[in-house]
Amino acid sequence: MSVLVTGGAGYIGSHTVVELLNTGNDVIVVDNFSNSNPESLFRISEITGKDFKVYNLSILDREGLEKIFLDNNIQAVIHFAGLKAVGESVEQPLKYYINNISGTLILCEVMQKYEVKKLVFSSSATVYGLPKALPISEDFPLNATNPYGRSKLIVEEILEDLFNSDKEWSISILRYFNPIGAHESGKIGEDPIGVPNNLLPFITKVAAGELKELKVFGGDYPTKDGTGVRDYIHVVDLAMGHIKALEKILFTKGVHIYNLGTGSGYSVLQIIASFEKTCGKTIPYTIGERRPGDVSACYANPLKAKSELNWSTMRGIEEMCADSWRWQLNSKKDYKKIKTIFAEMENPYLLKSKRDFLL
Ligand code: NAD
Ligand code: UD1
Repeated sequence: MSVLVTGGAGYIGSHTVVELLNTGNDVIVVDNFSNSNPESLFRISEITGKDFKVYNLSILDREGLEKIFLDNNIQAVIHFAGLKAVGESVEQPLKYYINNISGTLILCEVMQKYEVKKLVFSSSATVYGLPKALPISEDFPLNATNPYGRSKLIVEEILEDLFNSDKEWSISILRYFNPIGAHESGKIGEDPIGVPNNLLPFITKVAAGELKELKVFGGDYPTKDGTGVRDYIHVVDLAMGHIKALEKILFTKGVHIYNLGTGSGYSVLQIIASFEKTCGKTIPYTIGERRPGDVSACYANPLKAKSELNWSTMRGIEEMCADSWRWQLNSKKDYKKIKTIFAEMENPYLLKSKRDFLL
């Protein structure tokens, strides 16, 4: 099958492109590299030994997007492209609404025009807001607590309306819990710009000596050790969930919503302990104030995805920490250089080998 992947150079997108190529699909990536680097695409090619087409384009560019659909026989879309920093979304809500909501509207309009009505959408567990109970099931009440979360919630509602207006659509909404880890090769992983907001990228940088110490946000939550509890999921398990969701929408119309999580919660202190064991270093930390907007605990009931998609996670917390650490140790070579050169290449670029580039 020929699959368009928006945001395919990003953290979750790049791991999913690997799995799509490994399962025999043709992939076309569209990404504007606003939060990623084309280097990740070359590394996907190295991991899989496969070529694929890349468009350096924003999904807000309707004309450009139409040309992609005209020039390729696209059968389905996996839509990762979006901005995801909660704090930034509070400071610049319009930027988030335009990119995440208008971008999705344009994408859906173009898909409708070219009769491509199969879509997998990246949503987030953040749409549950403060959960009414644990573990969290898909039918729990929804509530956005910041503009980023609201952009996800609004898009979910738009996709429901779209299906109600045209029953030919087949849509999978995936609510991710906390993706961490990296590809086992150490070639691709999460590459946040600046100081990381999320726990694992912060810990890996402390372990590597790039940051001095971790601040634990709150030690007085009603949890096992007072620190926040989350459902951490290995990014490769998450990527596999997309392959299963894609298979599902090939044969069933409708809007299908799934939690993608492990079902187990780990506290911040448990994650620190696990990471210390993996990397053999001590992670210096202090316990500070709670971070505004944080919930005390959040973990999934993943049974719907298990029964309907035949998907469940395979990788435990040790593997997540080990793969994050391997990525931290291996990452970053050539990153800046590639981004500058790539901006000057023809569009689309048939991604074959980095050597073509650097010669
Ligand atoms: P990411 O930032 O690494 O990847 C997103 C990609 O989309 C980047 O490569 C970015 O350059 C691209 N992009 C952004 N706006 C674009 C546009 N207008 N046109 C083309 N490309 C654009 O983020 P990620 O962690 O891989 O997340 C992927 C998706 O999953 C996002 O929609 C995010 O909101 C959602 N999500 C992520 C998490 C998480 O913890 N990482 C959790 C829940 C949901
Ligand atoms: C955050 C976002 C959420 C988003 C998710 C994945 C907020 C309020 N929520 O969720 O919307 O979907 O990332 O991108 O930003 N922690 C520390 N110290 C740190 C960083 C984190 O103690 O420096 C703690 C947090 O308080 C939390 C846990 O670690 O208990 C995980 O934090 P994080 O990785 O940021 O994920 P979420 O808070 O679940």
